[in-house]
Amino acid sequence: MDYGKVLGIDRPVSRIVFGTDRLRGRELPWLPDRSLEQQAFSLLDRSFELGCNSFDTARIYRDSERTLGDWIRQRRNRAQVVVISKGCHPGLSSGRPRLSASDVSNDLHASLKALGTDFIDLYLLHYDHPAAWVEPVIERLNRHLDEGKIGAIGASNWSHERIASANTFAAGNGLKPFSASGVQFSLAEWTAPPWPGAVTLGGDGQRAAREWYSTHGLSVFAWSSLARGFFSDHYDPKNPDPNRVSRWCATYFGTEDNIQRLERARVFAREHHVTVAQVALAYVLCHPLQAFAVVGCTTAEKFAENVAALSLKLDEATLHWLATGQASRGRSWSP
Ligand SMILES: NC(=O)c1ccc[n+]([C@@H]2O[C@H](COP(=O)([O-])OP(=O)(O)OC[C@H]3O[C@@H](n4cnc5c(N)ncnc54)[C@H](OP(=O)(O)O)[C@@H]3O)[C@@H](O)[C@H]2O)c1
Repeated sequence: MDYGKVLGIDRPVSRIVFGTDRLRGRELPWLPDRSLEQQAFSLLDRSFELGCNSFDTARIYRDSERTLGDWIRQRRNRAQVVVISKGCHPGLSSGRPRLSASDVSNDLHASLKALGTDFIDLYLLHYDHPAAWVEPVIERLNRHLDEGKIGAIGASNWSHERIASANTFAAGNGLKPFSASGVQFSLAEWTAPPWPGAVTLGGDGQRAAREWYSTHGLSVFAWSSLARGFFSDHYDPKNPDPNRVSRWCATYFGTEDNIQRLERARVFAREHHVTVAQVALAYVLCHPLQAFAVVGCTTAEKFAENVAALSLKLDEATLHWLATGQASRGRSWSP
């Protein structure tokens, strides 16, 4: 495992982050609750043994916080684990933005309770509401930093311009800034945000954003780094399967450009005896960004494969070739 540094977090953070949004419920609704929990715990155990110490959860991910918190308590490993959680998701039924200072405090306290801990290492605001003032939100987050309830703060699905303005306010007022950002980023580019307000770093339109992140060194937590299964055996554009993952991938990623990217990833994987998922993850991890890949899976074998993707070092020419099909691949891989 490789580890990175996130401003405000006092221990190394694994660059493969375990995504827990479907930790208990992933396609297995028929299993009794106890079995689901045991299955989730054994996957968490194996990931931890593989060196993964960072876990991404959120207030909105059903009982993911509670399950993660139960596992941490049972294994007594709180001091070794980096808990990343998110609050201020818009109301699910109303779609009403929730980004006031009181939304921050209410959600943070509910997350602490569900996790059964008194501290969250990195707390992200799940979505932006661009019309909302950032000042009271940054002030409230700083109050919780001072109280020791959180270690570092960040935004998820915020534009880099909004993050920059929040951080300018923080710098001018002696407050701590956002040190991390959660955005979608993968070798495939989406056709449209799958959820209102979701933000990606992929594509030509986001070149300025990627440069901004490179220059400012803010940690990037790339979610859906396998394009939610586009780079997995769940999706084959030539033999579309009616399963939910495949339909989702076809809708949000099934463009001709992405299918060609998938084909190039397959060629590269065959030539270098790695898997397509590893090529896709290496694409994210080798970008000139402080990138962490947030990835979700249901088996320890897949998780181990994802960790091994860190050994695959892609140079700039290969990143460009995978994304565009242009230019030579040059010297692309170091064992
Ligand atoms: N901040 C946000 O707004 C936001 C939004 C979405 C997601 N997230 C976070 O990002 C995490 C990951 O996102 P995601 O689950 O949407 O997408 P993802 O990680 O890109 O893709 C998950 C899919 O890839 C498959 N997979 C994983 N590793 C594989 C491997 N080595 N070989 C083949 N297939 C593999 C999984 O299969 P199986 O499931 O069958 O194992 C699953 O179908 C979530 O858990 C969540 O924590 C954050």
